[in-house]
Amino acid sequence: MESGSLGGIGPRVAAVCDARRVLLVIDQAVVETHGAVAHDALATGGFEVHACTIEADEHQKTIETVASIYQSALAAGLDRHDAIVAVGGGLTGDVAGFAAASYLRGIDFVAVPTTLLAMVDASVGGKTGVNLPLPGHAGAGPRLGKNLAGAFWQPRLVLADPEVLATLDHRHRRCGLAECAKHGLIASEDLLDLIDSNLDAITSAEPSSIASLVDHAVRIKVVVVQEDEREQGRRAVLNLGHTFAHAIEPIEAMDLLHGEAVSIGLVGAIELSRNLGRLEGDWSEGFIQRLKRIGLPTRLPAPVATAELMMRMGYDKKLEGGCHTLVVPHCPGRVEIVSDVAEDAIVAAWAALGAD
Ligand SMILES: NC(=O)c1ccc[n+]([C@@H]2O[C@H](COP(=O)([O-])OP(=O)(O)OC[C@H]3O[C@@H](n4cnc5c(N)ncnc54)[C@H](O)[C@@H]3O)[C@@H](O)[C@H]2O)c1
Repeated sequence: MESGSLGGIGPRVAAVCDARRVLLVIDQAVVETHGAVAHDALATGGFEVHACTIEADEHQKTIETVASIYQSALAAGLDRHDAIVAVGGGLTGDVAGFAAASYLRGIDFVAVPTTLLAMVDASVGGKTGVNLPLPGHAGAGPRLGKNLAGAFWQPRLVLADPEVLATLDHRHRRCGLAECAKHGLIASEDLLDLIDSNLDAITSAEPSSIASLVDHAVRIKVVVVQEDEREQGRRAVLNLGHTFAHAIEPIEAMDLLHGEAVSIGLVGAIELSRNLGRLEGDWSEGFIQRLKRIGLPTRLPAPVATAELMMRMGYDKKLEGGCHTLVVPHCPGRVEIVSDVAEDAIVAAWAALGAD
């Protein structure tokens, strides 16, 4: 994390990759503002640079988009020693990372996150992937299941330049704070306090505030991932709020960005904790107020049937042997992975969020 580092990525990538060619996979929304800098910096690093763009839209987070990256890689003649460099938000990183994980059975990958959410969360930990249409819903306007195909593929390098957030709108900056709030709830009330006391500077993308926020949030995630890279156990705590979030995020009527869905999902996890008798003390209302102060939603913004939400939850990766495994907070710094959660406790949590 270094201000202005985008312009110096070439030598940094060269230091960790033996590639001769790189395929720059870039979010088309940042091509005009950051594309030339990234391209020229990679060329300065001695790489033959090829580029392709993708659209950062959840409906384009598909296997077809991955296939289009394979085609660009083939056309550019990328071999097993070459690399893919993703410049974009979490969606670009997930899709390009999955392409890197699978092209020629895996080539080097470098992530250059351009959203706060990707800096604090998505670019760390090696999860890559795409959405899949749910069974019976292929064709026009498919119902998508979030991140149902993918791979663990660690980037050789993650290079975050806080300056690139200057072009990111406030709504997306707030989304990054939802994942930070999640990290704070999992492991560190200090992180929640840091957000509170620097909220204006962070939402104005002031580089030094962004740098300390990213540093704090990433350190929490790295500790958890290092313990359990393939999510066989403890890493699942990072899914706090996400089983709820993944059920609502693809519903168009909700009009929710990922971080907004996570914010509502965190409240869902708190409600579930209450229903399971796990909630300790009276911190939860204060936490919900923190989310509201950031400007994040804490209830469902549109009517939806609980049955639809339960159906969607049924396709989540956290379902094991037909039973729901969810993460619930006891208090900031203490969360628990609960297996075989009773459906009526989940239904009651959805009701508390405003589901019909
Ligand atoms: N792999 C992981 O561990 C992980 C973790 C969290 C989230 N995710 C995934 O990440 C995605 C959400 O990430 P996101 O919020 O970064 O979304 P995103 O990549 O869709 O970017 C959000 C929006 O900001 C635009 N954008 C990106 N950078 C910009 C910039 N600098 N200036 C202006 N506009 C910019 C994009 O075009 C898009 O419209 C979801 O698909 C989610 O599933 C993955």
